[in-house]
Amino acid sequence: MCGWPIAIAGVASAAFVVSANAWINAPGGFRFEGGKLVEVDPWQAMFGPTAPAQAAHVIVASFMVTGFAVAGFHAWRLARGTVNVSYHRKAMSLAAPVAAVATLAQLVIGDWSGHVVAETQPVKLAALEGQFETEAGASLRIGGWPDPDAHRTRYALKIPSGLSMLAYHDPHATVRGLDEFPAADQPPVLIVHLAFQAMVGIGSALAALAAWALVHRARRGSLPETRGFLFALAAAGPLSIVAMEAGWIVTEVGRQPWIVQGLMRTSDAVTDSPYVHASLAVAVLVYLSLAAGTFGALRLLARRPMGGEPRHGA
Ligand code: HEM
Repeated sequence: MCGWPIAIAGVASAAFVVSANAWINAPGGFRFEGGKLVEVDPWQAMFGPTAPAQAAHVIVASFMVTGFAVAGFHAWRLARGTVNVSYHRKAMSLAAPVAAVATLAQLVIGDWSGHVVAETQPVKLAALEGQFETEAGASLRIGGWPDPDAHRTRYALKIPSGLSMLAYHDPHATVRGLDEFPAADQPPVLIVHLAFQAMVGIGSALAALAAWALVHRARRGSLPETRGFLFALAAAGPLSIVAMEAGWIVTEVGRQPWIVQGLMRTSDAVTDSPYVHASLAVAVLVYLSLAAGTFGALRLLARRPMGGEPRHGA
């Protein structure tokens, strides 16, 4: 029973943390008057237009990463051959469906996130798609290499009207291009576009893997155990972490040069405190020790006999 409050608190905590990030992406719940904040409304600030989609996207991404990391480890052990086949099979078949269902849900939620970005942060949308010119019926780019000097994205596979459709659910909708915004207000397009392609590319590949697993389970009552499937599932663990990090690059680098969209530049938020280096060093040390401790504990657990058998017949 203790597991439930921990799970609920974990999800709620993610939603609250992400609502702060949603606010810096689309600040609301206040008005500026004579250089002062007035009519502050904390509820509107916390639950603004970007918060629900961002919270759903991050929470579901966390279930994907956790599910694939656990299932991937057990798939790896099964693929390499192990004496504890039933233990690894059971663990994999518990974790993989969680990841698979979360991944299929993520396709819908990711589309929602794209729609919200189009409405609230058009310059970020232009950067993540490598869209330099304002265009009606804009194409969706798969891959491609944005060239800011030439104001175009090269080598992309284009799906006609795909971007207008995805962003506004209308094939004729006009998508604003980067050129419509002052150069000083544009994010670095190359890194944002590549990160977005990595996130969506990995998300799509994982969705294909999830569909394979779920269809096989529905038809045969168990997950596939071919070497191909097991190695793909083992790769899905690290890949889902890459997608998560790429997502944060899209959000954070895509908002530059602002720390609070349209209100405060990142350069104005840099602290001039002399203690920054010391506190960074302490934080790095704390996290390195935690990482070493976690690694050590997990190694110890992994070496113990598995399957629930006590160590010495105790
Ligand atoms: C499959 C299609 C996907 C689409 C269309 C999509 C779309 C988006 C968009 C538009 C953003 C920017 C949101 C903003 O800045 O307000 C974003 C951010 C993010 N994405 Fe994705 N995403 C997809 C898959 C994934 C996957 C598979 C993961 C991780 C497993 C992931 C993790 C993240 C994270 C952590 C963020 C940063 C938090 C946020 O802004 O919501 N995404 N995604």
